[in-house]
Amino acid sequence: MLERLGRRRLDPDHILTPELARALSELSRETGRQLGLIIDRSGQVEILLVGDHRSIMIPALPQNRATGARLRGLRCLHTHLGGEKLTQDDFMDLLFLRLDLMSVLEVDAEGRPGKLHSAHLNPGAMADQEPGAVGGAVVADAGAGGLDSGVAGSAAGTHAKATVPTAANPWLVLPPRQVSRQPDQLRELIASLEAEFSRRRPVREVDRGRDRAILVSVSSEPKSRAAESMAELKELASSAGVVVLDEVIQRRDKINPRLILGRGKLGEIMLLALQTGANLLIFDQELNPSQVRSITDHSELRVIDRTQLILDIFARRALSREGRLQIEMAQLKYLLPRLGARDDALSRLTGGIGGRGPGETRLEIDRRRTRDRLTKLAAKLKAVSRERYQRRERRRKKEIPVLSLVGYTNAGKSTLLNALTGSDILAEDQLFATLDPTSRRLRFPEEMEVIITDTVGFIRHLPEELLQAFKATLEELGEADVLIHVVDISNPRFADHIKVVEELLRELELDRLPRLTVFNKVDLLTDPSWVTEEAARYDAVVVSALDRATLPPLLEKARQAVLKTWS
Ligand code: GTP
Repeated sequence: MLERLGRRRLDPDHILTPELARALSELSRETGRQLGLIIDRSGQVEILLVGDHRSIMIPALPQNRATGARLRGLRCLHTHLGGEKLTQDDFMDLLFLRLDLMSVLEVDAEGRPGKLHSAHLNPGAMADQEPGAVGGAVVADAGAGGLDSGVAGSAAGTHAKATVPTAANPWLVLPPRQVSRQPDQLRELIASLEAEFSRRRPVREVDRGRDRAILVSVSSEPKSRAAESMAELKELASSAGVVVLDEVIQRRDKINPRLILGRGKLGEIMLLALQTGANLLIFDQELNPSQVRSITDHSELRVIDRTQLILDIFARRALSREGRLQIEMAQLKYLLPRLGARDDALSRLTGGIGGRGPGETRLEIDRRRTRDRLTKLAAKLKAVSRERYQRRERRRKKEIPVLSLVGYTNAGKSTLLNALTGSDILAEDQLFATLDPTSRRLRFPEEMEVIITDTVGFIRHLPEELLQAFKATLEELGEADVLIHVVDISNPRFADHIKVVEELLRELELDRLPRLTVFNKVDLLTDPSWVTEEAARYDAVVVSALDRATLPPLLEKARQAVLKTWS
């Protein structure tokens, strides 16, 4: 009997037929268990569920293969033996699994079918809220609406008349019906829901094929600090080619090491993801494996954290052999502890952002292979570093002074290096365009030759893995005679950036080196009048790397600094 149920194709326009309702109810009562079906849009039963008396578990579901679909393309229907209607768990499954519909069939004491209760997600929920202001309680039961209201047009529109969906109703409950008296508009309802979700937040043509993310910060820091860090995360995400759809900041006094977010809050984020068409959550905080699992167990969204995002950006940008080896090592080291239980959560991380590596490395590879690869990489890196050391030695013997450019990422270091030396290394308006220490020679007007090197951009909370990975680059900084600290003065957060760089220099014990501060991108300021005062305060030279005419004062100051250290 069960087997027959599992292979059935149902009428796609009805939630269920009276005949099937009778069969399910009888069997459910007989076995004393809830029975359920996962059904696709053509009416095909995909999965048969057998629960216990009070509950039923839904296993991992296949993805919706329809392009552009927001909902799962699957609905769930199950029996309830205790006379309860839709429960909180039903609503949560509806939301977390993005089901087309969740239906519950009451079964009476004699095993006869009672009323049918159904709910679907509400495309209008939270639509009017400001980005980042996701809040409010998750509330069930918005009352009547749905199938009865003639859903041919816009689902949310028709519901709106009947139920006035508010920001707090992630789902709408259809009026309870006897099975024999349900309307036959299921396909229309689902089609109109899909249309309404897309209408409210359409995917722009240019964003197709790109990762579409919601940024999430869960932090015990003051809100302003969290917002600051979030702004940076946003820049990082754009750098990685991710479309940022929304931001959610949640302040918590204490972060739970197992669950980064409560189920209620996560539910709100899921709804937001559904409405915006997001496929990725990026957390501003580093997540441990159980926190990742606590989210991915409940949804099909990919989840990555700040470190993975940065590693991903680095992976794309690393150009030299050494850079690529270092990045691959950093990625593997980061992933190793996360490879424990090879579950769905991890396999979800493999595609797109966060899953890209310079090699063909995939997260599916197991721990042992990862360790082997790490050992090999370490050996290779050693060899490459040795070569580099030899090069450096040769340079040192010639006694040429070294100027090293440092600065917050995107400050314009590479552009300045190009402008100063006439060379042409990669400079893009994206964070971390430079990953490889690049050296160029520069001739001061009076025939004094120096070497000027570019370095990886600094950033707040530089992940430990990266500090390690770029030790070689940063070690090279120790060889510098003068550090040139490049600051993007057009960035409103420039003072913070200066602080971050200074802190990192201190951490790396490089603050002992003479330093020259350069305020770059002055051409971008509409009113540069305040800069003179700031420059005096920081003892900085003001330039625009795009305008060579502004560079002579910098050259002069650099020359003096070099002379001072070499005299
Ligand atoms: P990382 O590699 O991330 O450390 O960046 P970077 O500091 O090397 O910055 P890069 O030279 O790549 O410049 C970043 C962006 O700023 C590029 O789009 C540059 O064209 C732009 N830029 C650099 N200097 C100036 C400037 O003086 N004026 C203007 N308008 N843009 C500049």
